[in-house]
Amino acid sequence: MFEEIRKEFPIIRGSRFGKKLVYLDSAATTQKPEFVIDRLKKYYETENANIHRGPYDLSLEGTKLWEWAHEKVASFINADSYKEIIFVRNTTEGLNLLVNTVGRKLLTKDDIVVVSEMEHHSNIVSWMILQKEIPFKIEYIPIKEEYSLDIDWFKKLIEKEGENIKIVSLVHISNVLGVKNDVEEIFKIAKKNNSFTMLDAAQSIVHCKVDVKEIGCDALTFSGHKAYAPTGTGAVYCKQKYLEELTPWMGGGEMISSVSFKDFEYNELPWKFEAGTPDIGGGIVLGYAIEWFEKALESVGGWESLIKHEQDLTEFFFKQFDGIGWFKPFGPRDSSRKYGAIAFHIEGFTFRGCKNIFNIETNRDGSGISNFLNEKGIAFREGYHCAEPLHDKLCVGPSLRFSLAIYTNEEDLKYAANMLKQAVLQGLN
Ligand SMILES: Cc1ncc(COP(=O)(O)O)c(C=O)c1O
Repeated sequence: MFEEIRKEFPIIRGSRFGKKLVYLDSAATTQKPEFVIDRLKKYYETENANIHRGPYDLSLEGTKLWEWAHEKVASFINADSYKEIIFVRNTTEGLNLLVNTVGRKLLTKDDIVVVSEMEHHSNIVSWMILQKEIPFKIEYIPIKEEYSLDIDWFKKLIEKEGENIKIVSLVHISNVLGVKNDVEEIFKIAKKNNSFTMLDAAQSIVHCKVDVKEIGCDALTFSGHKAYAPTGTGAVYCKQKYLEELTPWMGGGEMISSVSFKDFEYNELPWKFEAGTPDIGGGIVLGYAIEWFEKALESVGGWESLIKHEQDLTEFFFKQFDGIGWFKPFGPRDSSRKYGAIAFHIEGFTFRGCKNIFNIETNRDGSGISNFLNEKGIAFREGYHCAEPLHDKLCVGPSLRFSLAIYTNEEDLKYAANMLKQAVLQGLN
């Protein structure tokens, strides 16, 4: 069944640059199934018009589809209504929207925002930018030795700081370590403390069930392009009671119901937060991509089978390196704790961006290995994967990352492991 789904991805079926593509960079963006590609083409061929404004059929139909796509996202993550869904370009924009609306409303001097040590830069830097205007503090939940978040540390912080902790904003699945955080437990504690809870679901949205009610978050954001939808798509979920109170971070067309020379009135939710002409085609096709994914998920037997499949593949990949000392997984070796991202180090080598602060000056430059993998058609990542503080904390330089999606198979991973072994054994640099 997984092989049938794989066949739906033209870029994976074909070859590029004169070689077969072995795509192991799905954590950065997923490939798109034929259905999604065709649906976007159909949109531009037969449906393109601006929404919410035109009294003509094409515009009215586009408006309906735009609203339907919001409903689709709402039902996928179990939100109460499409009114709680705002379309954005990606997770980064989603987090920045929340920082600049929720953050600005809730934070004053000496308040605290809690994130974790395994956040993507977008859940760190966006807060740091706001911090330049409002002198609140950022606290980081530490990572324990076995790569889980230190919940006892968080409980102690709550005991000490209480309601000064205004916001708790966490990554669901780490794009580097591949672990899924116990956000349910942390958010439960945070809610008892009346903190606002928000989730970065960039990696989790197609690697495990994301149900806003079960998770207990007040807000969430994800990227459509990491979920088989076109680039330039993503969504923010936020509970209606908050959205009603919040001030949008952008003003302009679409987000108002009337404007005079002196004042204006907000449009209804969620349009109040969608200023200007959005990526209409992309957003509509995000709805269709979710519909495609739901069907694919059903055809493979649901979340449990997808998770097992991806974890079995991860185990298969790790097994290729049994007894090989230079292969160092970054994050747990236990594949039952991994959700799609497999980062690792190669002992004795450093990779692009290395700061040489980790006593690894004697290491060899790994660019020969990266170039070799590229020559062999393998798409992967090297560097900090936008989680540089995490690498610093664990005292490791840049890592390599292979990441999986519903179309990844053993053949991809066996080939990538063999090519990696060849590159390292040849001592390329
Ligand atoms: C955990 C996490 N958060 C946020 C992002 C940012 O996503 P985007 O680049 O789509 O804005 C990523 C992207 O890799 C991610 O993995």
